[in-house]
Order: sequence, then structure tokens, then C-alpha cells
Amino acid sequence: MMAAMWDPEHYLRFADHRTRPGVELLARIPDVADPRRVVDLGAGTGHLTALLAQRWPGASVTGVDGDPAMAARARADHPDLAWVTADLATWEPDGMVDVLYSNAALHWLDDHASLFPRLRSWLAPGGVLAVQMPDNWAAPTHRIPADVLDIEPPGGDHWPSAAVAALMRDRLVAPETYAGWLAPAAALDLWRTTYYQRLTGDDPVWQWTTGSLLIPVLEALGPEQNRFAAEVKARYRQAYPPDADGVVTLPFSRLFLVAQAPV
Ligand SMILES: C[S@@+](CC[C@H](N)C(=O)[O-])C[C@H]1O[C@@H](n2cnc3c(N)ncnc32)[C@H](O)[C@@H]1O
Repeated sequence: MMAAMWDPEHYLRFADHRTRPGVELLARIPDVADPRRVVDLGAGTGHLTALLAQRWPGASVTGVDGDPAMAARARADHPDLAWVTADLATWEPDGMVDVLYSNAALHWLDDHASLFPRLRSWLAPGGVLAVQMPDNWAAPTHRIPADVLDIEPPGGDHWPSAAVAALMRDRLVAPETYAGWLAPAAALDLWRTTYYQRLTGDDPVWQWTTGSLLIPVLEALGPEQNRFAAEVKARYRQAYPPDADGVVTLPFSRLFLVAQAPV
């Protein structure tokens, strides 16, 4: 699925929570001898791409993203880096890559059975593939919109079928399966972290999911958006009640993979 209508301001409303896993992923990348080509797949606004450039100042660093608004923000904020606007389903680097990094993007692509071996094949000897993807498909954040879309809306009539199809369902496979696709690896680090995100403001879980997961659904719903929003917000409030200070705790799990090719 191609990225659709991302809003950099909305996405960065929770910049700390969205950035932290990317920083933790970067910290787990082992030393790579004299990296020349570093690529950030699904770079978004480029704030993490800039950290890659800081860590490897001698490398050519390229951010790739399919969304024109995100790419425009990245170009404006970091004109010194190289930016490509392209669909990751078809884009290819123009040579072997020393560090191939992707934070919170590859779950937007389907067919991981072809994607991951393809990414692995781009690694230079000693090169590293580092990936983080949300992994909470059964959590209320994801289950509630699915439940709402799978029943008739209040007042009858079906939701537009494009909206039902636009909701990303479980994309990830077992960590061991990714491990198999990333072979041969000189080193392989796989882990999963649950962040207990403390969110504030009105309907913060709705604000969170409409900054990413629900973007294509809202686009496909068109004028039905308001009915959908009312139903999902009400269910989110029940699933994630605020505490006495008005803060909502949103558990959010993410899968991390770091594979280094043999030298
Ligand atoms: C959740 S954002 C992550 C952005 C950045 N990596 C970060 O961590 O802040 C996901 C990004 O992946 C991009 N994306 C999703 N599917 C894509 C595709 N098929 N081709 C290119 N970019 C895609 C979106 O445009 C979006 O900018």
C-alpha cells in the first residue's frame, strides 16, 4: 500500500513517543567499518535521518519516503541530506548499502516474505539492516477500528468498502521468520518493547491513531468520517480511561530487528 496523505504536524504532535524507538534502534546498530551509503526507508519528516547523518558524518545519507508532504518537510528541515520521493515497494538503491535503517514504516508494506530478503540482498559485506515496526495488532488501538468497520454503522448502511480495506490488519510475522529471511547474518538482535505512553489532551488515543494507522481509513471514509470518529472515540475512551490527573496510559509494543551481514 502506498503512503497516503500524511500530516507532518499531526504526526509530530507526539514527537517524543514516536522518536524514542527510532533512537533506541539507532543505539543498537553495531559499528560499521567506514560506511559509505546509509539509507533511511520511510524517513518521514527526516528527524531520525538527521541522527543517522550525525552518527556517520562521512557517509552519503539518503531518506526515502512516498508521501509528498512528509518529504517536503524533510527537505525543508534538512536540505543538506539527500531525499527521494518514491514507493518503497519498488524503489531500489543504486549500489550496496552499509546501513539500511527503517523506523515505523515497513509495516505499511505487505508481502514481507519478498520485502525482507530483498532488503537483505542490498547489504554490503558487514552492512546492517535495522528495522522497528509497531507490533500491537490485537490491542484496542487497532482492534476497535477493525470492530467498528466490521459491523454496520449506527443508522444502517455499510461503511465504504474502500475504508474497510484501507485498515491495516496484522502485517507482521513471527520474529523467528524474520530471522530466517535475514540470513546469513554475522549478528542478529531481535527484541520487542512495550512503551507505556502517557498521553494528554482530548481523545489522545484517537489523536495518536489518526496520526498514522487511521490515515488511509479516514481518507477512504470521506463524508462518513464523523460517524466513524464518534464511534471509535467512544470505544477508545472506555478502553483507555484517563487517570485522576487526566492522563491516559497507552501501552504500545514494537518489534526491533538488527541484522549485520558477514564481512
Ligand atoms: C510512521 S511514519 C515514520 C516516519 C519516520 N521513519 C519516523 O520514525 O519518524 C511512516 C512513514 O512511512 C512512509 N511510507 C509508508 N508506506 C510507504 C511506501 N509504500 N513507500 C514509501 N513510504 C512509505 C509514510 O509516508 C510515512 O512518512
